[in-house]
Amino acid sequence: MEKLVILGVQWGDEGKGKIVDLLSEHFDVAVRYQGGSNAGHTVVINEEKFILHLLPTGILHEHVIGVIAQGMVVDLEVLEQEIKGLEEKGIYIKDRLVISDRVHLVMPYHKLLDSLFEKKKGIGTTLRGIGPSYMFKYGRKGIRISDLYDEKRFYNLLEENLNFVKSICEKVFCERFELDLNSIYERQLSIFEKLKSNVKDAFRFFTERNKSILFEGAQGTLLDIDMGTYPFVTSSNSSALGLSNGTGLSPKYFSDAYFLGVAKAYVTRVGEGPFPTELKGKEGERLRELGGEYGSTTGRPRRCGWLDLVALKYATDVNGLSGLVLTKLDVLDGFEEVKVCVAYELDGEVIDYFPASYSQLSRVKPVYETLKGWNKSTKGAKDINELPKEALDYIRFIENYIGVSVVMLSTGPKRKEYIWLKEILKTKSSYS
Ligand code: GDP
Ligand code: IMO
Ligand code: MG
Repeated sequence: MEKLVILGVQWGDEGKGKIVDLLSEHFDVAVRYQGGSNAGHTVVINEEKFILHLLPTGILHEHVIGVIAQGMVVDLEVLEQEIKGLEEKGIYIKDRLVISDRVHLVMPYHKLLDSLFEKKKGIGTTLRGIGPSYMFKYGRKGIRISDLYDEKRFYNLLEENLNFVKSICEKVFCERFELDLNSIYERQLSIFEKLKSNVKDAFRFFTERNKSILFEGAQGTLLDIDMGTYPFVTSSNSSALGLSNGTGLSPKYFSDAYFLGVAKAYVTRVGEGPFPTELKGKEGERLRELGGEYGSTTGRPRRCGWLDLVALKYATDVNGLSGLVLTKLDVLDGFEEVKVCVAYELDGEVIDYFPASYSQLSRVKPVYETLKGWNKSTKGAKDINELPKEALDYIRFIENYIGVSVVMLSTGPKRKEYIWLKEILKTKSSYS
């Protein structure tokens, strides 16, 4: 396979990191192309846990070149820390990292604005400065990494932006403004100096080389700025819609790619916003504890609920999925019954689509189908024959509803804890 796109199809944290890590073995290049350090992608290799925020997860494989493509917003301080953290664990990536010269930077004043906006009427962001950085980008006030080659230009842009944020901070929010122009200027340039050799024209990198590429989506389809539960979304196109603008590659380039969705066997969401199948009582707590559902980036408890097939079908269609990976099936072990949402009730009427309107989505009530649970453990299962019949029935039910095959199951956080239900790669995995 030459091109594989891996996308979260719920509200993020579906287990993309684990799947990207597992499949990156088969690719030359791994690319992140939207979002920033709001992402937290967890990988467990042997007993060691890694959480990647900005670097493409595939870079953990020694042969893989990692690309931070143009659609990302990059916090240089986080990137420096992340590279250092990997080096401390004996993983050297500096010679294998390409940073697009078109990426926008997340500056300290973006993080300040993020926290000021959150104080007023928040949506529960990760406070990583993501929204404000994209606001500046689309408002044509952003600073791109290539602006740092021209120090005078960088200084002037920074000064202009800082003055603007200072007046918002003081006049709108009546808060003290404590950021200092010269220290930000020096700090950003000093990190840039260390990463300069990695900054390249990533578009040319893509077009000049004939390599197999894995594209790693961050967040999930329901957090997409256009297709998600607006305004409770992130500020980039986190569905397949983000691929072209995030890389600079034409939609035609992706026409022969495999679009692999990643979904949990239930649903979680962190932050505010509508969540039709949310379980607020004991059942929700049970899922949270069994699934270890606490944010990889912020540590916040994740809201948990039953699998929502209306939303999953919507995400399947938005992304044009070729196949689906179902993760965390093991978390459902031991439930007497498992419920799946097959429709919504909206003001007394049954609907089978995912409404765009915030007010409507906040009002819908899930219509459930109840399936038999399973008592046998699926944790760490590596073969389909190890799965109880009820778990297989659950998978078939999902496939029938969304019209796309579940090609892989993940049965635990570790690399080797997975089962191919339908092989999609030509090369054999060494992790079996
Ligand atoms: P991502 O943002 O989509 O990469 O997901 P996160 O890393 O934020 O959250 C997924 C969590 O589930 C991590 O702690 C993973 O180690 C863990 N995980 C992934 N797949 C499985 C699985 O199949 N079973 C269990 N029990 N945990 C898993
Ligand atoms: P990964 O890649 C889950 C959520 C935040 C908040 C909203 C906006 O690990 O799946 P932002 O900081 O982006 O402005 O916050 O989006 N959010 C995520 N939720 N997983 C993520 O990334 C997320 N990135 C952002 O909680 O609700
Ligand atoms: Mg995550």
